[in-house]
Amino acid sequence: MEEFNGGFVSFFVIEFVLSFNIFLLVHGQLLPIVSDHGENTSQIQTYIVHVLKPEGSNFLGAEDLENWHKSFLPNTTLDTGEPRLRFSYKEAISGFAARLTPEEVRDMEKMDGFLRANPSRTLHLHTTYTHEFLNLSTLFGVWSTSNSFYGEGIIIGVLDTGIHMPHPSFDDTGMPPRPAGWNVSCYLQTPCNDKVIAAQSFDIANSTTPPSDIDQGHGTHVAGIAAGNFVDNAEVLDQALGRAAGMAPKAFISVYKVCWKFGGCGTDGVLAGIDKAIQDGVHILQMSFGARRGYLPTSFTDDDVAVGTFSAMQKGIFPCTAAGNNGPDPETLSHAAPWDMVVGATTTDRRIRATVTLGNGTQLHGESAYQPNLVTNQFYPLVFPGSNGRNRQLYCLRNSLNGIDVRDKIVMCDVGAKDNIVTGKVVRNAGGAGMILMNFDIVGYTTFSEAHHLPVSHVSYKDALQLKDYIISNSTPTAKITFGGTIFDIRPSPALAFFSSRGPVKYNGNIVKPDVTAPGVNILSAWPVEVGPFPSGLKTKTFNFVSGTSMATPHVSGIVALIMSKLKYENKRQWSVPEIQSALITTTNTLDLDGRPIFDQATFNDNANILQRGAGQVNATNAMDPGLVYNIEPDDYVAYLCGIFSNNSAEVQRFTKNNKQCTRSISGEQLNYPSIGIPMASSSASTTISRTVTNVGDASEIYNATFIEPPFVKMYLSQYQLSFSRLDQQITYDITFTMNGSHPGSGVIGQGELSWVSSKHNVTSPIYIAF
Ligand SMILES: *[C@@H]1O[C@H](CO)[C@@H](O)[C@H](O)[C@H]1NC(C)=O
Ligand SMILES: *[C@@H]1O[C@H](CO)[C@@H](O)[C@H](O)[C@H]1NC(C)=O
Ligand SMILES: *[C@@H]1O[C@H](CO)[C@@H](O)[C@H](O)[C@H]1NC(C)=O
Ligand SMILES: *[C@@H]1O[C@H](CO)[C@@H](O)[C@H](O)[C@H]1NC(C)=O
Ligand SMILES: *[C@@H]1O[C@H](CO)[C@@H](O)[C@H](O)[C@H]1NC(C)=O
Ligand SMILES: *[C@@H]1O[C@H](CO)[C@@H](O)[C@H](O)[C@H]1NC(C)=O
Ligand SMILES: *[C@@H]1O[C@H](CO)[C@@H](O)[C@H](O)[C@H]1NC(C)=O
Ligand SMILES: *[C@@H]1O[C@H](CO)[C@@H](O)[C@H](O)[C@H]1NC(C)=O
Ligand SMILES: *[C@@H]1O[C@H](CO)[C@@H](O)[C@H](O)[C@H]1NC(C)=O
Ligand SMILES: *[C@@H]1O[C@H](CO)[C@@H](O)[C@H](O)[C@H]1NC(C)=O
Ligand SMILES: *[C@@H]1O[C@H](CO)[C@@H](O)[C@H](O)[C@H]1NC(C)=O
Repeated sequence: MEEFNGGFVSFFVIEFVLSFNIFLLVHGQLLPIVSDHGENTSQIQTYIVHVLKPEGSNFLGAEDLENWHKSFLPNTTLDTGEPRLRFSYKEAISGFAARLTPEEVRDMEKMDGFLRANPSRTLHLHTTYTHEFLNLSTLFGVWSTSNSFYGEGIIIGVLDTGIHMPHPSFDDTGMPPRPAGWNVSCYLQTPCNDKVIAAQSFDIANSTTPPSDIDQGHGTHVAGIAAGNFVDNAEVLDQALGRAAGMAPKAFISVYKVCWKFGGCGTDGVLAGIDKAIQDGVHILQMSFGARRGYLPTSFTDDDVAVGTFSAMQKGIFPCTAAGNNGPDPETLSHAAPWDMVVGATTTDRRIRATVTLGNGTQLHGESAYQPNLVTNQFYPLVFPGSNGRNRQLYCLRNSLNGIDVRDKIVMCDVGAKDNIVTGKVVRNAGGAGMILMNFDIVGYTTFSEAHHLPVSHVSYKDALQLKDYIISNSTPTAKITFGGTIFDIRPSPALAFFSSRGPVKYNGNIVKPDVTAPGVNILSAWPVEVGPFPSGLKTKTFNFVSGTSMATPHVSGIVALIMSKLKYENKRQWSVPEIQSALITTTNTLDLDGRPIFDQATFNDNANILQRGAGQVNATNAMDPGLVYNIEPDDYVAYLCGIFSNNSAEVQRFTKNNKQCTRSISGEQLNYPSIGIPMASSSASTTISRTVTNVGDASEIYNATFIEPPFVKMYLSQYQLSFSRLDQQITYDITFTMNGSHPGSGVIGQGELSWVSSKHNVTSPIYIAF
């Protein structure tokens, strides 16, 4: 799996192992044969077809709906006997998924009620095959400082690869009984319990395929981060020992298997999962997958999942999505709809230290989870097979070390092969004593503590440069690797991981995405199988360090469960999805633990900007009590979509699922979003926007405005104080942005912030100016 061709591939390789997908959508094999009837079956694809019910029509039940969907098809089966209809959606979209040729789709376009058909796309899990752990008490502190009820009573729908039920993280000790009336199937071999209350598969061929996650692990890891129960003495190869728990350890988990080992996550199956989750009545959609570089959406017209999450959002279900691992380049986000919470990934302050000591005494601190007891004072010859300029040797690919004397030497390899652990095995099999895994430029300072099979140290790009310098300037270079165990208080922290996908988004009307960041590097959570060089195969309590925006996202899903359960048990009004988003976005930490701007690990010394880290690091304690929230009314979303689609009602109808035409249109900056994105294309640009805040703090509270103006821009507010006298009171204010002097040039990013500050609360909106 470590094959690749060319320099840039290295970005993808940090992605999950599903790189061998070949567009096997869900399961159907595309055979290049011509059928007896002349159907060229290689052109048959799964399409997601959006249709609109005739006005005034009422369907009685699922069967009526399915028959109506089938009426769009040329006939019900393909020549092979395979049914054409894959999924008949009830809630996620108004439409269905079916096997069709492009020609058959063209015929369908003329039919009454047809809106649009998109081929099903393959999405990918946003993981790197690597590792870490989370210190809840220091990172979030939310359990101790606020009565969060641990997410009790809230159901998190985890759309992923399934779940490894026997893991102690999914034990139901201390869990309340499942919700009254809950009656959703469990297709696991191990029965569901009061922690994992349902588990379903969206494999069209076999809905009883157990969503067991035995062959993947991603879904198990993600579910553990969001809502794993408490497990004492969790560790990975004895590192990061502590008590593991998800963010919302008393929340329920409902599993939707929509991602497959071969074939990724087809959007048709993802929509089927969303459709069922809405019907089941989950509160949160946890979705750590998205499009990859090269296949990123370029408009909402080809983002069918955003239609499904729009439907969920309207029902009060919170969609939580991963930014993607396509960083550090700009415009690499896999999700961009305002109603999708988009989460980027940061490091924690913990490392699993593996130190390289060079023959001249210089020490370089890297990482590895596997920390064998070695005779530590022995130096080994250091060898760099890639110094010949060949990529295969640079990345130590399989068979690339043949003919190179690496026996009993420490071997230097660049990161970039698909799986760093496999790279280590190549070195070990060639007789190497150890491996130094070196970052290349854009990977920067992001290192992984992986469960290697030989002594390894994964070092930063800066350290890699020193190593390469050392080996060039020494005729007999030597090194040793020693292990320092689990180290805390590393700075800067949190820092933005190089792989975290970044904005801007060109098609969402300057809505700032990603929204927030959360820990996503070397996160420790549940894992189905034992890791490391000597798996005993006996332990059931296994954990693994994994990295990716996939791991950042469930932190936010879990925090949303905490917010929801707090409101529920305190008998407060439940907040809408946009209100919860607002609570998360306006209360972040914009600075790191040392009070400095959040560092971008892809660089030597740059800070992450607003399009890279969004509003900043999510702060659970603050988000539970934001003071004020920015709500978005359903009508405003429709007006926003009318603006995005230039009043093309058919495009908007895919989202609204009704026959209404566009009557009102607003631009992106007018949407009552908690962050602010303003286009200022010329030196005469001037824009006034309005925002409405709702009081969810104390009944009587006075807020003063403070703000940081973006460079080249002046800001004026219609009022500089907001005075509330009752709960849920709303106040609307205007902000005018004008240029101050000459325009800095197209493409420049300006950033500022507006804070409403009371004696108790600080409600901050990040401001992005698209010059
Ligand atoms: C279904 O329709 C296709 C194309 O319209 C045709 O080639 C095929 O024979 C039909 N299949 C059946 C089972 O009637
Ligand atoms: C079937 O379609 C594929 C893809 O469009 C094409 O490459 C192939 O030549 C077609 N085969 C026939 C027999 O038309
Ligand atoms: C959250 O924000 C509060 C107030 O700004 C701060 O005191 C606290 O340390 C933050 N929590 C974390 C985990 O950073
Ligand atoms: C649960 O659902 C099944 C199938 O939909 C149904 O047969 C059964 O009666 C339901 N049970 C309850 C308690 O609602
Ligand atoms: C579906 O999967 C289950 C469990 O793996 C298996 O027992 C059953 O035979 C499968 N059914 C079909 C039609 O493949
Ligand atoms: C969490 O952090 C605190 C303070 O840094 C430390 O004392 C504690 O050991 C850490 N816990 C775990 C489980 O790592
Ligand atoms: C060891 O060599 C490296 C690379 O040339 C150099 O950067 C470093 O300063 C040297 N260390 C000492 C102690 O001389
Ligand atoms: C409010 O929070 C923002 C963002 O963290 C910060 O820049 C600002 O200084 C804070 N204002 C006050 C008065 O604490
Ligand atoms: C859409 O229609 C509204 C009023 O019907 C109009 O104000 C607006 O300019 C139109 N927008 C676009 C992009 O055409
Ligand atoms: C506006 O421009 C003037 C002159 O360049 C400068 O002194 C002032 O600081 C600027 N104000 C802002 C808010 O950028
Ligand atoms: C808001 O401003 C007023 C003066 O304009 C001041 O008296 C008050 O203390 C301020 N409130 C806060 C929370 O800073």
